[in-house]
Amino acid sequence: MGRLLKEIIRNVALMSLRNNDGDYGLLVPIEENIDIPFAIKRVYYISKVPSGIERGFHAHKKLEQVLICVNGSVSILVDNGKEKTKVFLDDPKTGLYVGNKVWREMHDFSEGSVLLVLASELYTEEDYIRDYDDFLEAVLSKA
Ligand code: TYD
Repeated sequence: MGRLLKEIIRNVALMSLRNNDGDYGLLVPIEENIDIPFAIKRVYYISKVPSGIERGFHAHKKLEQVLICVNGSVSILVDNGKEKTKVFLDDPKTGLYVGNKVWREMHDFSEGSVLLVLASELYTEEDYIRDYDDFLEAVLSKA
């Protein structure tokens, strides 16, 4: 892991992404296993979220992700079963690493916001834990 990683709760960290920022704009390069602590198997982005809509409300059994708000802002609630906190993302030079077995909710998408997500696995519904009590059980069984 080449980049600065600041753990905010266990299994969740803020990352300062290297970047070229200057008079002609911002460029943030992302290379797997260098800027991101895993091989990137999937990329998706969330945009056009209507005002007041909240997303997420799930954890993953295995998947690791890095979330980057490349435009606008969004608040991410992260909860590892023991600790929880809310992270405000409004800087395309900041990544939020979310490990496995972390419940996440996405609130307060600003108009025009775009949330880019880099993921360690291909999409499979099998990897989702969509029930909060099931999530707590999965966290406890890990300990
Ligand atoms: P979901 O992960 O539930 O969205 P959010 O957590 O942002 O509320 O995904 C929404 C829908 O999109 C769901 O039907 C699954 C589908 N989807 C894919 O087909 N591929 C993907 O990579 C992702 C993330 C979701």
